Amino acid sequence: MKTELGKMRSLAKEIPLQFAHCVKRANSVMHHHQEALESHSSNVTVLADQVAQLQQNLDDVTDKLGREKKRRQELHNLLMELRGNIRVHGRLRPLMEFDADNQDMASLGRPGTRSEVVVHFVDDENICVRTSKHNKVFEYERVYSPTEKQESVFDEVQPMLTSLLDGYNVCIMAYGQTGSGKTHTMLGSHRDEDYNPSHDPHPDEGVIPRATRELFRLIEEKPEGSHTIEVSIVEVYNNDIRDLLSRDPNAKHDLITGGDGQLSIPTVTSKSVDNVYSVMTLVQYGLRTRRESATMVHEHSSRSHLIVTLTVVSRAPSFFATKSMSSADLSSSGSGFGGADGRQTPTLGKKGRAQSQTWTPDQLQGMQLSLQQQQQQQQQQQQPVIRTKLQLVDLAGSECVGMSGVKGAALREASFINKSLSALADVLGALAEHRTHVPYRNSRLTHFLQDSIGGDAKLLVLLCVSPAQRYISESLQCLGFGQRARQVQRGPTKRRLPSSVEKISGPESSIKPRTGSASK
Ligand SMILES: Nc1ncnc2c1ncn2[C@@H]1O[C@H](COP(=O)(O)OP(=O)(O)OP(=O)(O)O)[C@@H](O)[C@H]1O
Ligand SMILES: [Mg+2]
Repeated sequence: MKTELGKMRSLAKEIPLQFAHCVKRANSVMHHHQEALESHSSNVTVLADQVAQLQQNLDDVTDKLGREKKRRQELHNLLMELRGNIRVHGRLRPLMEFDADNQDMASLGRPGTRSEVVVHFVDDENICVRTSKHNKVFEYERVYSPTEKQESVFDEVQPMLTSLLDGYNVCIMAYGQTGSGKTHTMLGSHRDEDYNPSHDPHPDEGVIPRATRELFRLIEEKPEGSHTIEVSIVEVYNNDIRDLLSRDPNAKHDLITGGDGQLSIPTVTSKSVDNVYSVMTLVQYGLRTRRESATMVHEHSSRSHLIVTLTVVSRAPSFFATKSMSSADLSSSGSGFGGADGRQTPTLGKKGRAQSQTWTPDQLQGMQLSLQQQQQQQQQQQQPVIRTKLQLVDLAGSECVGMSGVKGAALREASFINKSLSALADVLGALAEHRTHVPYRNSRLTHFLQDSIGGDAKLLVLLCVSPAQRYISESLQCLGFGQRARQVQRGPTKRRLPSSVEKISGPESSIKPRTGSASK
């Protein structure tokens, strides 16, 4: 009992000691956690500062990006200005089976035959015609080799679309003899009818679908709803304008000059479109009615000039506006929220009565957005509407009537084609000589394209050339046409022309703009 009591006494002495020890340990752990907490909260403060700093940097960079975009567009326009308003590129197609004489594939391309290759790709600026009679080099801003893909052609076309959204009318046309690859260049030779906007373009897709895709991509970068697009598809056949989207394609149409000075044909069908698929569905519909027939050169010869017009209706506060800039502009232009951080409560409630209420940041953001949208809509409605045109033209082939083997109605078609191409050459000649009178009205084709080939509009002529000897006179005519068209772009810097011209040797080297017709 005594021993037990002794043990309990010593235990009773130890308990307060152990308790004190535990309290000390608990205190030290607590202290440790307190320190950790303090350090974490100071880290949180540091992180919050860093986030604020990053946000500030992001805002600065977004702002800078907006300014840079504007500057890039200004430089782009300056560059386009310096390059001139008319550009000429040459595209040499590969030798095709139909180039062979009498379907004799064994002789295709053989020297001495009519399918011998006489037009050669020299480099990306020069093309040459070499035969026993001719040895000529023609220089253009860009020359595409027979193996170059549709994508390469479009890469060069693409910058012109930026000009379109900067307020310039743009025209891209394929010119060349029959069978030289105009329809291939503008539309493509593929049978793939899937123009799903989210798919990559089919490798064979031509300029029309690619330009359409690009246009919608560029518009996506603009403030929502600020740009809309309408399309019309016509052909110029026997000097008549035919609406390929109309139920009655044979109806007659006349051009009128609108209040804004732009030419239009109010009776032609114009459809609102919002992606490449809707545009190409309409193009394919129109192509079913387009005049096409087999000639001695190839099976699907276009007998009319196809013109796809994409009209961009712009209500943007500025052509340079981008999504980021516009939202910044909107928040700074006063959306009913005061204070630098935009978090004050709105000063007016429903019916304009003053209200005092506390809002959560999410509510505030939602309201700010809807107010911004309303304001954006109001601003857009108040903006003057600007209409710019992108005209994409697949011309009918210039041809030597004898070579295409046409008679009767087909001969009449061919003569109308040649007359209108001749009128086109005359227009470019008049522009090159800075004549006061430019004969746009000599043909429906040039009259219809007047807005896109004169003034400060941008024109790109894609010369399509066949390589075979049998088309030599047509090829020379086409290359000569391109050379004359280049003079127009050289307007202010005319003196630089001879450098390209000196390369042309022989009696046919004159590049004086023709005063008469350009085609045979
Ligand atoms: N660069 C090319 N690569 C491959 N095939 C081509 C190329 N250019 C043209 N072709 C082919 O040559 C044939 C004739 O081309 P296309 O129909 O484009 O001629 P075109 O200039 O439009 O003739 P037309 O004036 O008679 O309408 C088509 O089968 C086309 O696929
Ligand atoms: Mg064609």
